[in-house]
Amino acid sequence: MTEAVWTEVDAYFSSLYAQEDDALAGAVRSGLEAGLPQIQVSPNQGKLLQILARAIGARRILEIGTLAGYSTIWLARALAPGGRLTTLEFDPKHAAVAAENFARAGLSDRIELRVGAALDTLPALAGEAPFDFVFIDADKENIPAYFTATLPMTRPGGLIVVDNVVRDGRVADASSEDGAVQGVRAFNALAAREKRVSASALQTVGAKGYDGFCVLLVEGAA
Ligand code: SAH
Ligand code: DHB
Ligand code: MG
Repeated sequence: MTEAVWTEVDAYFSSLYAQEDDALAGAVRSGLEAGLPQIQVSPNQGKLLQILARAIGARRILEIGTLAGYSTIWLARALAPGGRLTTLEFDPKHAAVAAENFARAGLSDRIELRVGAALDTLPALAGEAPFDFVFIDADKENIPAYFTATLPMTRPGGLIVVDNVVRDGRVADASSEDGAVQGVRAFNALAAREKRVSASALQTVGAKGYDGFCVLLVEGAA
């Protein structure tokens, strides 16, 4: 089984379940044109995030790592009426591209984009908590810190989803000297012993190569 087959099957599913409209296709195109890295979630992954957020009736969503706003658009469209999404981005150039994409998608009224290092912008968000859904998708070295910061901001019954937990399988290599791999491994060790969440990790193949999501349910819902 080769990566070409995975990509073909992913395209097949995307054509059925995760078709992009002008706003989503435009978000990808604008990122390409501005020279941003093409590391947004795949269409099927975006749709999965949207379904998870809708399934819990999310009205408050937090995203760490905006890029051109592709995953943000999928998630903002999951918001229940009156809901709001806050997305955190370090790079002002990425944020500027994303802001245009939110406007084109007609979502600017529901999305708040905060520019800066997420570890600096997160503390001020504690006052806006609790969040129903958190998507962690920025620098991988800081995943443990993002998880530690956002867990107390997420309501019981809420979900935290972490992207890029497989990294072509390198996550299984305890001796890896890759800081991103060590960040993911440290996060997994933390999540596994954290009594306030129940977690599972999902390996994915397709347009984004071999990677995966960790999905964590915050315990304690009535
Ligand atoms: N969620 C996006 C992809 C995000 S890519 C999507 O799927 O469409 C990761 C983003 O995190 C990049 O835009 C990068 O600039 C940003 N980032 C990296 N380090 C960061 C930090 N310390 N704080 C906030 N954002 C950061
Ligand atoms: C890469 C992919 C991602 O989804 C991400 O958030 C960061 C980096 C990558 O393929 O390098
Ligand atoms: Mg990612």
